[in-house]
Amino acid sequence: MESNQTVRFGIIGVGNMGCIHAKCLRAGEVPGATLVAVADRDPARLESFSDVKKYDDGKKLLRSKHIDAVLIATPHYDHTRLGVEALRTGLHVLVEKPISVHKADCLKLIGAYNARPNPAQVFAAMFNQRTDPFYIKIREMIRGGELGELRRVNWIISNWFRTETYYASGGWRATWGGEGGGVLLNQCPHNLDLFQWMFGMPSKVRAFCSMGRYHNIEVEDDVTAYFEYPNGMTGVFITSTGEAPGTNRLEITAENGKLVYENDTITFTRNETPMSEFSRTTTQAFACPATTQSEIRFPDHGPQHIGILKNFVETVLENKPLIAPATEGIHSVELANAMLFSSLKNKTIDMPLDATAYARALKNLIKTSKFVKPEIRAAAPVDLSQSFSK
Ligand SMILES: NC(=O)c1ccc[n+]([C@@H]2O[C@H](COP(=O)([O-])OP(=O)(O)OC[C@H]3O[C@@H](n4cnc5c(N)ncnc54)[C@H](O)[C@@H]3O)[C@@H](O)[C@H]2O)c1
Repeated sequence: MESNQTVRFGIIGVGNMGCIHAKCLRAGEVPGATLVAVADRDPARLESFSDVKKYDDGKKLLRSKHIDAVLIATPHYDHTRLGVEALRTGLHVLVEKPISVHKADCLKLIGAYNARPNPAQVFAAMFNQRTDPFYIKIREMIRGGELGELRRVNWIISNWFRTETYYASGGWRATWGGEGGGVLLNQCPHNLDLFQWMFGMPSKVRAFCSMGRYHNIEVEDDVTAYFEYPNGMTGVFITSTGEAPGTNRLEITAENGKLVYENDTITFTRNETPMSEFSRTTTQAFACPATTQSEIRFPDHGPQHIGILKNFVETVLENKPLIAPATEGIHSVELANAMLFSSLKNKTIDMPLDATAYARALKNLIKTSKFVKPEIRAAAPVDLSQSFSK
């Protein structure tokens, strides 16, 4: 598209998240973009949209020819189905996280992108936490060599507390057939994306997932995972939606010191001599390298969703680089799948994950499910935009 044009957006799924995106676009907060159509299967969700075209199904919107770009904010399985069709139609596509439920579906989606009819089509994912200055800074410190070689990463990310009412607020939530997983597929795609964005992909994954430990659900709401990297780095990833108060503590042990990100502060304790060199060269038996400490803070957590929306539109109109190319979304899905597979099989998973084997295991979970979803009940209205910045 030309830079003086306006990107006409359609949103599929105007539930919790789709409505927040719609609000942004309707308020003119994304220069160069306008909301022209929405689609939702639930007529009640469409009621407040009097000023745009409305469709009772996503596919009808995709075929309408009224839009240049589509934002897919439906439950997870439809990300693949709708995404593939949107890409084949020649639309620019922004898909909510996770890009798909499992790796085989990610490959389908990415295959449709690779075969797109228009080479200029933009395909991005809503990994809003990539706009957080804290994570951007940590990534820069790793990539710039400030930390030296990484030895261990521990991330406890348990501040995703969710209540029974949350899980009962949608029929698709927390079921194998509707959502395809629990905390790893809904809350943690952000953290798993940041994990691979900062540290790359592990070569081995061992995990222990507890299904319905804290809630009346059939999927995982508590996870402890161990990763091994080709260079010997190890990682531990712990998450839960059942612990309150929760924690967000990322600790990186590296040759040049220790970085801790917690409570909105990055603390870097720098070794004056790298730890392995100190160990090799000192004549002392119990000494540690001398250290200096610095703290880094930012006033906020960056533009988040609106940052991704603006970047997407700038890429469509001005060919700017994407912050979150959707093709990179396969990594967080593969990590989530590998953790679940490891837990189900009770063994270490060698990466890359066997996509077909995992898809089969998931299908089996759906087929053999005896879970009876509690009665759907509406959650009290909240301003969700306040809860995304962590
Ligand atoms: N990026 C973030 O911070 C963030 C936060 C919350 C949710 N999400 C993601 O947003 C997506 C939606 O989550 P939510 O909490 O808004 O769910 P939700 O249940 O509140 O909304 C989903 C909507 O999609 C509609 N829908 C389902 N299938 C459809 C179809 N084929 N065509 C048209 N409409 C359809 C449903 O009727 C519903 O209104 C999920 O992928 C979720 O993981 C992202």
